[in-house]
Amino acid sequence: MSPQSEVKRLSAPDIRARKGAAPIVALTSYHAHTAAIVDRHCDVILVGDSLGMVMHGLETTVPVTLDMMILQGHAVMRGSRRALVVVDMPFGSYEASKEQAFASCARVLKETGCGAIKLEGGRRMAETIAFLVERGVPVMGHVGLTPQAINTIGSFRAQGREEKDWAPIEGDARAVAEAGAFAVVIEAVAEPLAARITTQVPIPTIGIGASPACDGQILVLEDMLGLSPRVPKFVKRYGELGPSIEAAVKAYAADVRARAFPGHDNVYGMKKPER
Ligand code: KIV
Repeated sequence: MSPQSEVKRLSAPDIRARKGAAPIVALTSYHAHTAAIVDRHCDVILVGDSLGMVMHGLETTVPVTLDMMILQGHAVMRGSRRALVVVDMPFGSYEASKEQAFASCARVLKETGCGAIKLEGGRRMAETIAFLVERGVPVMGHVGLTPQAINTIGSFRAQGREEKDWAPIEGDARAVAEAGAFAVVIEAVAEPLAARITTQVPIPTIGIGASPACDGQILVLEDMLGLSPRVPKFVKRYGELGPSIEAAVKAYAADVRARAFPGHDNVYGMKKPER
């Protein structure tokens, strides 16, 4: 057995079992190299459809396709060994019917080798989630702010900041849990509501702009590394890679223009002639 295969990858049931235990650490990743780094420190790697905005410069996640998710999901699986890899289902690949959802999810599981999928929506997706879980698809839910609904909600605004708006969001989280999801992302929701949902549902809640009381936390990797030009209030920057990359690119450009790169160490000399 190779050393690589000796590492046991976390499964959806392993994450489900972490309810109320040590916080679940999750980050997004879309490439093999960043996945390898994230994998050494996190329990869950989400191949988020945020890749449309982060990698492709799209305004929203709506144009992201199943093929884009599968390509990057496969790369992340190749780069990681231990974390549970969850691939986001993109807009239009799962909402039309339970059958459409199963066909799309089956492609993602077969073609990437990932351990679970994530889809957006609460009560309206409950029947589909139950259908998928019964047929062997581990589902992570996503409630609160659901960015794929941008064209109906109008803006990426925090949800549940008035108590009168709490009931539907609580209902969404409960519906997702009752349908059999193994965990649920709560995005951009007032802190007391996210804390309350965490006590109400039997599955782990993974917060993003939610509450420290959630069972886990997730951020978009490029946001926390300081690579994204604009980030929501809930992002804490753990690095400033943007300015470092800019400085490196500037130094390279100056070296090339001054013929200082490539230097002696970066070129191939001739082989010594054989005698
Ligand atoms: O697409 C994504 O990156 C996400 C996270 C924000 C949870 O869904």
